[in-house]
Amino acid sequence: MLKAENLSHSFGYSLFEGLNLEIAPREKVAIVGVSGSGKSTLLHILAGTIVPNSGTVSHFGTSYLSRTSSDRERFRREEIGIIFQSHYLFKGFTALENLQVASILSKKEIDHDLIKRFGLENMLNQKVTELSGGQQQRVSIARILTKKPRIVFADEPTGNLDRETANNVIETIFKYIDEVNGIAVIVTHDENLANRCDTIYKLKDGIFEKIK
Ligand SMILES: Nc1ncnc2c1ncn2[C@@H]1O[C@H](COP(=O)(O)OP(=O)(O)OP(=O)(O)O)[C@@H](O)[C@H]1O
Ligand SMILES: [Mg+2]
Repeated sequence: MLKAENLSHSFGYSLFEGLNLEIAPREKVAIVGVSGSGKSTLLHILAGTIVPNSGTVSHFGTSYLSRTSSDRERFRREEIGIIFQSHYLFKGFTALENLQVASILSKKEIDHDLIKRFGLENMLNQKVTELSGGQQQRVSIARILTKKPRIVFADEPTGNLDRETANNVIETIFKYIDEVNGIAVIVTHDENLANRCDTIYKLKDGIFEKIK
């Protein structure tokens, strides 16, 4: 479903070289490693938002760079969901309005089951600036899943959450992935979260190693 071949990237100095990765439908993959090892950069390369110095990334058997620019745009809009380290909600809007924007742009219905599972029913009409960091994070994840992407990338998705809420959020994301036959690639420092993934890779000093 996702295949990365021979990826190399550097920002002045090399982050990694000859990196290979293959992800099958329903697979949840964790990427761990110390700060600055290149995890976020790798995630963006896999998502197509950063072009690697060399190597290819294919989604559903098609190399990302071989797509036309309009197909890339469509593909990213429809199939890729990125949960960022810091969330980008529309600040003047309520939680519900933020979900409605995603629903309109993707022409997909708002998923009320998802709202319930993320525990957001009672805060839908509140401005997102009036929500706590963890509540905003859940709204932001719900918004990304509203467009029903099959490939989900997440950079520290549980960073702002307590253990119990984090577990709920992860369970909801994983259940979602199984429902759409998708994949999740999650960068995390949270050992508990990494261990719940099917596969764990560690990025260290340019070496990308499967540790689970
Ligand atoms: N756009 C950029 N231009 C130049 N250097 C960059 C750029 N983005 C990242 N880097 C550098 O590349 C290295 C890896 O950054 P990256 O954000 O991928 O690390 P990370 O593993 O995600 O770290 P963290 O766990 O702190 O989020 C860092 O040294 C960073 O300074
Ligand atoms: Mg990072």
